[in-house]
Amino acid sequence: GPSLRQLAAEKGILFGSAVSGRRASPFDDPAYRDILIRECGVIVPENEMKLYVVGGDPKRPNFAPADRLAAFARTNGMKLRGHTLLWNRVEYMPAPLAAQIRAAGPERWLRDYIARVCTHFPQVYSWDVVNETIDPKTGGLRDTVFTQTLGFDALRIAYEAAREHAPRAQRVYNDYMSWERGNETHRAGVLRLLEQFRAKNVPVDALGIQSHIGTDGDHSDAQRRDWMQFVDRVTDMGYRLLITEFDVNDKSLTGDIAKRDAEVAAIAKDYLDRMLSYRQLDQLLFWGMIDKYSWLQGFTPRPDKLPQRPLPYDAAYRPKPLGAAVAAALRAA
Ligand code: G3I
Repeated sequence: GPSLRQLAAEKGILFGSAVSGRRASPFDDPAYRDILIRECGVIVPENEMKLYVVGGDPKRPNFAPADRLAAFARTNGMKLRGHTLLWNRVEYMPAPLAAQIRAAGPERWLRDYIARVCTHFPQVYSWDVVNETIDPKTGGLRDTVFTQTLGFDALRIAYEAAREHAPRAQRVYNDYMSWERGNETHRAGVLRLLEQFRAKNVPVDALGIQSHIGTDGDHSDAQRRDWMQFVDRVTDMGYRLLITEFDVNDKSLTGDIAKRDAEVAAIAKDYLDRMLSYRQLDQLLFWGMIDKYSWLQGFTPRPDKLPQRPLPYDAAYRPKPLGAAVAAALRAA
């Protein structure tokens, strides 16, 4: 049958996945590589463009891991997304680096860093310029060396630097406010941030909705309505939409695998039907294609220690009902 990439393209949507060159590399696993080549029109490095990999040394940036993925995309006719120029969380800014940044002057440092990375990857057509800067507990900006010293201006500087050094790339704000978890504070904070971007003419084009959804959330109609209202507010402000990191956590499901897979597929179909109803949504990326390589295996193990099944292909590279659900949602869109 047609690939997910083809089905999506028929609806004007770019389909793809995150790829890791470190933990589970397509370069060491030909079956993984074949799935990516067949299904994906776009890839995004899962970790390789992050500050903690690239490093802060202007003389010796570690671009090699991401370069390899960029070359893989080029060779196979895939587009390349960039993730991320400013992940504004202390957890992902090594302390010695934060000290250097403070000493160098955060504004100068941030502009130079973004210039360096954007210039190195002219292939990137869409950048997660800022990732996860809203604290879900308070709805305010997370505290880092950048926001402590520059406040909101840190974000303005990041988007302006991206516009200057990657003028043709889409500029995205990316965050995880998942539809079924009912985090009012997080959503309200993201809406305020998006309003501020508009009020202060910060050049942001789109909201990246990560979409790490799960079978364990609140799937009530009320919750669905709240979520759609949130997305409506975003599109009313003129933002485009992307699904940037889709997967379906199934740690709450017990029972046989066929039943688990069917429930994961049903929840995905329900979610995608709603999201694909927005004409502003033109990119759909999974956070991996093969269950065994999912970040969820390590980060959120199931109580029964069985592997999670959050992605379209199983450990033996067989297509799962989740992929069929995506195909059905794309056909219906
Ligand atoms: O590669 C090293 C390895 O050498 C070392 O032995 C091992 C020991 O900890 O760590 C390995 O690095 C890990 C890396 O993933 C590669 O597997 C890091 O510890 C681990 O923290 C890192 O996790 C990544 C996480 O972001 C933090 O950067 C996940 O793979 C990645 O899937 C996850 O992705 C995030 C998005 O960027 C933003 N949205 C949420 C999403 C899921 O958390």
